[in-house]
Amino acid sequence: MITKVTDKQLIASAFKALKNSHSPHSKFKVGSALLGKSGKVYLGTNVEFDAYSLTVCAERSSLFNALSNGEKEFTKIAIATSSSRFKFPCGLCRQALVEFNPDLEVILVTRDKKIKHFILKEIIPNYFKL
Ligand code: THU
Repeated sequence: MITKVTDKQLIASAFKALKNSHSPHSKFKVGSALLGKSGKVYLGTNVEFDAYSLTVCAERSSLFNALSNGEKEFTKIAIATSSSRFKFPCGLCRQALVEFNPDLEVILVTRDKKIKHFILKEIIPNYFKL
């Protein structure tokens, strides 16, 4: 039986991932929790390198984690940051996620737990598709 993951649980998972942020350069922490159709949650955090351009965002980390575990369909993502203001996912992450589900529900959370909900395609109109 698949037990339904609540928004509250998904947000808690995003903060759990945020705690593992490896961001020695920006000091900006991001945690992502991607919910698969199976009901499983895949965590991801941002990872920075001394060779700066190797940086990977939390959102794509969670996507790679999910794909590496064989999950390909997603319903929701919670993204927590260490900022007191809402931070939207970058263009690369929008494109990567939208290729899997334009109707993905997105929950943004600030460090003081302010919450914003939207649908991914709303923030990436006319996205590239083969
Ligand atoms: N970052 C994310 O994790 N997600 C985004 O959508 C934008 C930026 C990370 C990358 C880098 O480690 C830090 O935030 C500052 O850019």
